[in-house]
Order: sequence, then C-alpha cells, then structure tokens
Amino acid sequence: VKKITRHYEKNAPPVSRAAVIGAGIMGGGIAYQSATRGTKVLMKDINEEALQLGLDEATKLLNQQLERGKIDSLTLSKALNNIRATLSFGDFNTVDLAVEAVVENPKVKKSVLAEVEEQLPEGAILASNTSTISITDLAGALKHPENFCGMHFFNPVHRMPLVEVIRGKQSSDRAIAQTVAYAKALGKTPIVVNDCPGFLVNRILFPYFIGFSSLLNDGADYRQIDQVMEAFGWPMGPAYLLDVIGIDTACHADAVLAAGYPDRMAHSGETAIERLFKLGRLGQKSGQGFYRYEPDRKGKPK
Ligand code: NAI
Repeated sequence: VKKITRHYEKNAPPVSRAAVIGAGIMGGGIAYQSATRGTKVLMKDINEEALQLGLDEATKLLNQQLERGKIDSLTLSKALNNIRATLSFGDFNTVDLAVEAVVENPKVKKSVLAEVEEQLPEGAILASNTSTISITDLAGALKHPENFCGMHFFNPVHRMPLVEVIRGKQSSDRAIAQTVAYAKALGKTPIVVNDCPGFLVNRILFPYFIGFSSLLNDGADYRQIDQVMEAFGWPMGPAYLLDVIGIDTACHADAVLAAGYPDRMAHSGETAIERLFKLGRLGQKSGQGFYRYEPDRKGKPK
C-alpha cells in the first residue's frame, strides 16, 4: 500500500483552497481538519442550521485544544478564519479540490456532483466522501470523470487516521495524486483502493452490523452486545457505533451493499437499524438512536 501511495504522491500540487459540500457530521469534520491544517475551506450546505452546527462543532473542538494547551488563541482564530460557511457557490471558482459529503443516496449525490462540477475551475479535483456507492457509477453524472475519485474519511474525522482514496474506472493519476497529497496534508493516512460498493473498510464493517442485527432479531439486548464488544477490546460496541455514524447513513449504506452483494450482504426481514430509521431515531445527530443523548449530542450513553 505504501508503495502505491508513494507512486501517486509524486509531483502532486498542493491544495491551497478546498471546499466541502454538506456541513453535517462528515463535511463539518473535513472542514475543521482542513482549517486546523492551514487550508482555507468553503463549507457549503443548503441548510442554514446545518452550517451553524458545523461551525459550532469546529469552535468546540478548537476550544478543547486551547484548554489542553495544544494550541494558542491566535492559532484558534486563524483556524476559524480558514472556514467560510456558505449557502451559495460564490468563490467555488477558486477551489483546487472539493469534497462532496451529502446524504448517502446515489440520485442526490449525482445531482449535487453535477451541480458542483459546473462551479469549479477547469481541472479542479472533485471527490466524494461516499461510504459505499461506486465511484464509477457516480462519475456517470460528470462531464470530466477523470477529475473525480473517492475520498472516504472516517468518523470522527479529526481522530480517525485512515482515508480511502478510491480510483474509479475513469479517475486519472492526477486526481488520485492530488487527493492523496491533500489527505497527507490533513495529517491522514491515505490508502488507494479500487472501486466497488463499500470499498475496503465497509465491506468488512457492514457484515459485522448485519451480524449484530441478526442477534437482535434473535432476541439479544443491544446494551449487552455493546458491553461484550467493549470487553472484547473494541473502543465501542455496534449499537453505539451505529448511533455515532447516523442510523440514516447506515441504513442507506446497508441498502447499497445489499444491492452490490446480493449473495453475501442481503438479509431477509426488517433489521433494527431499519426500524429505528422509520421511527426517525437517527442516532446522536437527532438526540436518539439505540440510546438517548443529551442536547449537545455527544458523549457515551450511560
Ligand atoms: P449528515 O446527515 O450529518 O450531513 C449531510 C449534510 O448534507 C446535511 O447538513 C444536509 O443539509 C447537507 N445536504 C443535503 N443536500 C445538500 C445539497 N444539495 N447541497 C449541500 N448540502 C446538502 O451526513 P454525514 O454523516 O455527514 O454523511 C455525509 C456523507 O459522508 C454520506 O455519503 C455518508 O455515507 C458519508 N460518510 C459518513 C460517515 C459517518 O460515520 N456518518 C463516515 C464516512 C462517510
């Protein structure tokens, strides 16, 4: 993996201005990470409240760093100044690389990607943070699929080192090189992977969630399963992890994987994840998923 990554890194120009589309859990995290690493970033959403939540989260994380003595107040204000929250595409024509991070729905993503492509300067790189949807499939919506690839961060962005850089059938070496270089500039560990539904990590993670769901259907208690998996040594159990990811995102990703691997990942009957989704219990982001959360929506449930 290191060899492949090194190969792509050669001669990649630096990203001096980035953009994220979608200011949710992931878009907000990517904007924060860019800003703290000195890259100016436009954070676009269609929802004013989402933009504010993204900015609030970045401010909270920076204040934590300040309290721990890891940064000074000048660094904090510089980082915040690097993020510009916006509802419009103004200044997108100055961006070197844009990461799309809207809902995990192929139709919505294709329409957003086509819209963003129109706003970017010639040759700018466009990447999708999709968890599961084939990059080659998404590229079908674009005029310049060679400038497009996957850039899959993990949640929470500021703590998870890995970034999957996904090479679609038409992604150019230049697109991969610049995306790898950007991931490195953000202090991440990029790996270049080939395109398929779920890429690498989620092809491993989602069968685990399917196993968890089938245990629940057999009558197991999600709290006990979480306790067992923590005692096994994992930082959190599957129910809490699904709440952190977002029940809606997990549900959409599960559907993409079931369609992509009908022999291995399709499951009969409704899962607990689907039941929660229908109830609007979307996890930490909505204040309730498997567990209930305090208004700041963070922190491990009791
Ligand atoms: P989220 O639900 O927290 O945020 C999505 C945001 O996109 C919302 O703020 C929404 O207002 C905005 N949005 C919707 N349509 C838009 C449009 N046309 N233009 C601009 N903004 C728009 O979702 P989250 O969790 O941040 O997921 C985003 C993407 O990242 C999905 O593709 C997901 O699969 C992927 N992802 C999610 C992870 C997670 O753990 N939540 C981990 C890795 C990837």
